[in-house]
Amino acid sequence: MQITPHDGGVGARITGIDLAQKLAEPDFRQLLRALGHHGVLCFPGQDLEAAQLSAFRSRFGTLEHNVAAMFNAPGHPEVMILSNMKDEAGQPVGLGDAGQGWHTDMSYSHDIAIANVLHAKQVPMRDGRPLGDTQFLDMHRAYEDLPPAVKARLEGRTAIHDFNKFWEMMRARPGSARAPLTEEQRRRKPPVSQPIFRLHPITGRRVLYCNPGYATVIEGMEAAESEAMLDFLFRHQSQEKYLYSHAWTPGDVLMWDNIATTHNAVADYGPDEHRYILRVQVMATLDYAALAA
Ligand code: SIN
Repeated sequence: MQITPHDGGVGARITGIDLAQKLAEPDFRQLLRALGHHGVLCFPGQDLEAAQLSAFRSRFGTLEHNVAAMFNAPGHPEVMILSNMKDEAGQPVGLGDAGQGWHTDMSYSHDIAIANVLHAKQVPMRDGRPLGDTQFLDMHRAYEDLPPAVKARLEGRTAIHDFNKFWEMMRARPGSARAPLTEEQRRRKPPVSQPIFRLHPITGRRVLYCNPGYATVIEGMEAAESEAMLDFLFRHQSQEKYLYSHAWTPGDVLMWDNIATTHNAVADYGPDEHRYILRVQVMATLDYAALAA
């Protein structure tokens, strides 16, 4: 297995490994360290069925069954299809607008996620260029660069994260196919409190864990200060210097750290430019510090 870091901080390319095969323990531990260190790992040239994607991911933690409970791969409720394609009856085969806005998956959940894993089967192309990049921002560096006064003001504080915030942002877009969340879905994912700074379980370094997709309010602060502070944090973390944009190639498996990055799916392709991606989300259920030591 070779790990080649990208220029500029975030991301690495992992070659010499077939993810369809059982992952050997030393490789698993090395990948865990690489995930913490680089944030985004790309395994090019893979060809996995939903079951193989799940098996690979399950080494890293419990697999999440998304509360939206839609567009799952047949027989695999833990695998979601992200796609703008339609079947012969004109019905969507996947969630067409997943992740189109900056966010961190599962920050809206009491139990958070360590990683997301996406496997590209079809990538939209125009004039020989891939479209539909997935972009990432580095929350280790965003934390480190915060002004000392902001770090002091926010140390030990928490923010409320709400699944419905992002859902409604997507629903408000013209032509959205999303129905409002049901009472049952809202009951299963109520707003939760998350620390604004947290220790990363693999690197042991602090990260800024507060994203514009789900964070709504800072607890114990006047509304005006909370709004101004969130606005500052969201602008601070979105600086170009923290950005890495992944241009997809069919066969890529992309695994990213869901604690130390935020991400955004770029919606720059049309309905006839087809994108088809399998996704699993991995909950942070293992002792990563011990495993990565
Ligand atoms: C996601 O936010 O999980 C989806 C990202 C993508 O489709 O690029």
